[in-house]
Amino acid sequence: MAVSFYVTTPIYYVNAAPHLGHAYTTIAADIIARHHRQRGEEVFFLTGTDEHGEPVADAAHAQGVEPQQLADRNSERFRALAPRLGASNDFFIRTTDPQHMAKVAEILTHVKDNGHVYLGTYEGWYCPKCADFKAENEVDDGARCPIHHIQLTREQEDNYFFALSSFQQALERLYEEQPEWVAPRSRYNEALSFIRSGLRDVPLTRHRLTWGVPVPWDEQHVFYVWFDALLNYVSALSYAREGEDLTGTFWPADCHLIAKDILRFHTIYWPALLLAAGLELPRRVFVHGYLLMEGEKMSKSLGNVLDPFAVIDRFGSDALRFYLMRDVSFGQDGSVSTAAFEQRYESELANEYGNLVARTVAMIGRYRGGTLSACELDTALAADFDGLPGRVCELIDRVELSLALDEIWQRVRRLNRYVEERAPWRLAKDPAAGPELDRVLATLAEGLRLISVLLHPYMPESTIKVLEVLGASEPSLAGESLRPGQIGRVGALEPLFPKGA
Ligand code: MSP
Repeated sequence: MAVSFYVTTPIYYVNAAPHLGHAYTTIAADIIARHHRQRGEEVFFLTGTDEHGEPVADAAHAQGVEPQQLADRNSERFRALAPRLGASNDFFIRTTDPQHMAKVAEILTHVKDNGHVYLGTYEGWYCPKCADFKAENEVDDGARCPIHHIQLTREQEDNYFFALSSFQQALERLYEEQPEWVAPRSRYNEALSFIRSGLRDVPLTRHRLTWGVPVPWDEQHVFYVWFDALLNYVSALSYAREGEDLTGTFWPADCHLIAKDILRFHTIYWPALLLAAGLELPRRVFVHGYLLMEGEKMSKSLGNVLDPFAVIDRFGSDALRFYLMRDVSFGQDGSVSTAAFEQRYESELANEYGNLVARTVAMIGRYRGGTLSACELDTALAADFDGLPGRVCELIDRVELSLALDEIWQRVRRLNRYVEERAPWRLAKDPAAGPELDRVLATLAEGLRLISVLLHPYMPESTIKVLEVLGASEPSLAGESLRPGQIGRVGALEPLFPKGA
């Protein structure tokens, strides 16, 4: 039976349209999903939209529409974004799906039956934009939200509570026994120190809201949106494929990708909730950084948004995918800009990979009529290429997406240097150098095939074009597929990354 692999993005709020920050996580998850498919694993990649709760209800009312209408409209925009990004998600979940809502009610009733829920009164700070309750030490001076900078109100509500504090020891044990479960390490430390500072129980339901999943044992309440939302990762598996329940195959998830804004929910509430429900815990939460524009996190509420659709229209989704993984070290915050994008597009995509492809294909056509001779490869490159696929797999297993890309890119550069060193155009003029020219061209083509297979998860469209031109279109990493000698007749190709796009 094939190994299974399950990767998720957060489900995005539908109170506004998608922006580059959402695209970033979806692209990263897609790279991971495609990479694991290349390894012959059975992959499930989930994304979708988070549609209940106050931010959505408030945004809908502000626009004079019903929450469902706003949710339908914006969810569609997120659904459409995924294929535009080249994302190969296996399902798109909406928390307004009746099957999801039924599953939430079922699991949370189970949590209550297991003795982890009680009726109490909440009094404290609440940010309607975060849909989050904040402790005294989590609000800025003047009782402001540290993320949205708005003045917070004190809320008092009778709610059912989730007994989070009773999971204090279990969570400390989890962090001790599985130090890899939250990555990078700095985020693990942040979550652990939050746990060690003492967990408090949290509201599981909201009394005054109506836009949510009704609580089966008390219809005056809906579930607090975060519990509804987190459960998407489990519920989706039960209905994503008609007539099948994929839970047994894919749960627990292998990798939840998130940014640090929602760290606490995923690294504290989520494992505690799963323990309370008697479900297995995911294997890893990977927390990437923020894409910054002019130094501030892009967000709908701050209004400094760069439109991924516009970038894709002009340069294509591969260029956007590459740029985001290359310019911002995955796991850290980093600034993005049009100028940096254009610079990388030209210097790396057009002049390095694009040019390597163009000259390799052209020389095989010009000097050998598109056919490579069977010959031994040049050993000059062996030291640089041996073990490369294993190294890339190892880095992607650690979700080091930028480091893995850099490993591959060093080989793009190495191959370009190899062309300069061997100067095939000189060999072509010397009739005695025929066998040498054969070897150089085969070595180049094999190197190009290998890096194109490894680059495939990052740039699926362009690499398939390259692999097709090499007559070896399967981008597989499994079994013997990387063995040299499988290149067929080499065809012709339009420029991959035209300048002045
Ligand atoms: N609905 C919740 C998540 C529920 S998951 C069970 C939510 N939605 S959100 O629309 O605000 O999306 C937040 C996520 O979008 C971040 O965690 C991150 O994955 C992505 N990003 C949003 N803005 C981003 C940046 N500026 N930079 C990087 N990632 C960004 O929170």
